[in-house]
Amino acid sequence: MPTAPTSDPTSDRRPPLLVAFDAARQADPYPIYRAIREADPLAGYELAGRRLTLVARHGDTAAVLQDPAFGHGYQPNISPFRPDGDADDGLESLLRTDPPDHTRLRRLVSRTFTAGTVAALAPDIASLVTGLLDVALEAGEVDAVKALARPVPLRMICRLLGVPAADETIFGEWAQVLIRGIDPDFLLTPDQVAGRRRAARELDAYFRDLIVRVRARPGTDLVSQLVAVHLTDDALTQSEVLALCSVLLVAGLETTVNLISGGILALARHPDQLALLRADPALVPSAVEEMLRHDSPVQFIPRTVLRDTEIAGRGFSRGEGALVLVGSANRDPEVFDQPDRFVVTRYAGSPPAVRHFSFGLGIHYCLGAPLARLEAAIIFRLLVERTGELTLIGSPPTYLNQSIIRGLGTLPVRLTTRDRGPG
Ligand code: HEM
Repeated sequence: MPTAPTSDPTSDRRPPLLVAFDAARQADPYPIYRAIREADPLAGYELAGRRLTLVARHGDTAAVLQDPAFGHGYQPNISPFRPDGDADDGLESLLRTDPPDHTRLRRLVSRTFTAGTVAALAPDIASLVTGLLDVALEAGEVDAVKALARPVPLRMICRLLGVPAADETIFGEWAQVLIRGIDPDFLLTPDQVAGRRRAARELDAYFRDLIVRVRARPGTDLVSQLVAVHLTDDALTQSEVLALCSVLLVAGLETTVNLISGGILALARHPDQLALLRADPALVPSAVEEMLRHDSPVQFIPRTVLRDTEIAGRGFSRGEGALVLVGSANRDPEVFDQPDRFVVTRYAGSPPAVRHFSFGLGIHYCLGAPLARLEAAIIFRLLVERTGELTLIGSPPTYLNQSIIRGLGTLPVRLTTRDRGPG
């Protein structure tokens, strides 16, 4: 078991792999990433009898994520994270498949989850956010996670999947248990592993039921469309439809919640940057990219080596694991000017800053990126237009006890209505 962390991350004597995974580092994991990058940006470790390399630099990240020799299937008996081969955490489809299966599934789901589907949600997102802001401004002091960051992506993912509003709460609970469960088993308690299995079973049963209802009365939602693909050209099996529904919920919900809550925290901590946005709300899309880069909701992307290959002169053999440290690559000083600073104009320049990897890269590039960007753009636009004061209150914000997906558990803030002056 990992021992208690010391106060100075760089003086922690444990292997950097364990330090990087340590939930106690969640409030600020960046000093340890810097230490890893500077000591050895492709450091290898033994884990459960397998070699695992931490990929810490921007350039090596791009190389790994685009190299087909690095696969994503968990592949029982190959993953050092799931020594018992149990990958039942709702992410088996798409994310954990390699070509040719991945190519087929991605093509089919992209046919249903289109730019038009996402754009059509904009008016609903705006009216939901307006209502939530009305309530938050009236209250004056709120937990921004509960009041804003969670309800918007939860409502939208349910709307997209055709899940009735009455079931939103249980959906949110399953997603939270499953996202905690994607961490390596060595970080989880037996109760958390059991909870993951239970939530995956319950979610599966729910979607089976939904599919029966949708077959009888199809709608315009994604589940109806995936079922139609299954029924008409037999290109998707029923279990593939089920797995796709789960992956959309599990991959799409907590990540977006964390982008929004992390973004609110960044603005509250950087009043000068908030003032820039207030003066020019057209900067919001650039600010959202900077929120993603500066504090990525997905901190680690795992890969398994499918055939021998080489990155930056370092050999990788079949069966080894690679763990891309997204949070580190996004702050690599070799490509980002002042990488630790939060600068809302960073992606507004010409040419814009180099890309971040918060949505990944290559064939698994986030399918829901346009939806996450749209939700965040609408929330932050309305937030900067409508609020005057936006400050942190009470004790410091707390982080959830999880490693791969990083996010706030609570974010107490004070909000006031913006005084627009006379006229
Ligand atoms: C800020 C919000 C989000 C972040 C930071 C994020 C991040 C990511 C990342 C890093 C990957 C690639 C993982 C890898 O290469 O192993 C990914 C893939 C994926 N994301 Fe997202 N995501 C977000 C929102 C969403 C939303 C809203 C949805 C769906 C509604 C979604 C669905 C997916 C799916 C299905 C994949 C797998 C794609 C594939 O394997 O081909 N994500 N996401």
